[in-house]
Amino acid sequence: MYSTRELQDEIIRLKKEKDICILAHAYQSHDIWEVADYVGDSYGLSQQAAGASQKTVLMCGVRFMAETVKILSPEKKVILSNADAGCPMAEQMDVELISGVKEKYPDYTVVAYINTTSELKTVCDVCVTSSSAVQIVKNIENTNILFIPDCNLGRWVADQVPEKNIKLLQGGCPTHVRMSVRDVEVAKKAHPDALLLVHPECLPEVTALADYQGSTTGIMDYAKKSDAKSFIIGTENSIVQHLQFECPEKSFYPLSKDCVCHNMKLTTLGDVYRCVLETGGEEIVLDEEVLKKAKRCINTMLTLGG
Ligand code: 13P
Ligand code: SF4
Repeated sequence: MYSTRELQDEIIRLKKEKDICILAHAYQSHDIWEVADYVGDSYGLSQQAAGASQKTVLMCGVRFMAETVKILSPEKKVILSNADAGCPMAEQMDVELISGVKEKYPDYTVVAYINTTSELKTVCDVCVTSSSAVQIVKNIENTNILFIPDCNLGRWVADQVPEKNIKLLQGGCPTHVRMSVRDVEVAKKAHPDALLLVHPECLPEVTALADYQGSTTGIMDYAKKSDAKSFIIGTENSIVQHLQFECPEKSFYPLSKDCVCHNMKLTTLGDVYRCVLETGGEEIVLDEEVLKKAKRCINTMLTLGG
């Protein structure tokens, strides 16, 4: 039997030997963070994927993230560490639906949250992530924007870019929408001095009560730099634990015990081990046409996002 440390040491040895870059989304568990070459939010992961020098990239996250790596680096072998890890929001809208909406609104620029399938990206104009959406939407020339699929993130962007005419569809993250105003009331009563930091995928009535809104990395940076000593965290609960490691002298409380993304939680250190052994995970293979068309959308994000 291996201890966590022994398994991690083996993973680190094998990834170097086999020239594998391990990317981990911030919602992964701490034992996975410790073996990753880079941990970050969706935007940071895309930037790292575009610049990674290794021949193989192992994505510890969900499927659309591994697909993004493949689109940016088609020559690389890209592995999703757990084949069942998908993002339910990414499956909410498909090419047929959005092609129909585009026919109705031909003069709109279609902005797709990166949490979409690679097929859907082929009919969109530009991708955004939570940390880059405001900047990118500001930089788009067209005033008319169709923002998909997350209407909560879209509304948050619309509030900050009032000069744009932003049309939304009814999609969203099933994990973040679980948090309610009642959760805020309960958490603030229990921790009256704590600041509330939330992800913009939360419901607007929840984000309206927040002291800060931002991506997973944004929330972590804010808590690390802040002079405040306690924080209520309104995003996937793994961030509470990561912040406790980063700032052990500060206190972090989950806004809701239910804010758990079961897909992000599927990947285990054992999965990562089997992937570096080359006996686990799923290699991402995308159609040539999908690769080409989806790449435009992601490249535009990296250009407009800076
Ligand atoms: P960010 O990584 O951009 O904060 O997004 C969170 C998320 O839900 C990823 O699926
Ligand atoms: Fe998808 Fe929400 Fe999970 Fe992120 S937290 S992977 S958006 S379901």
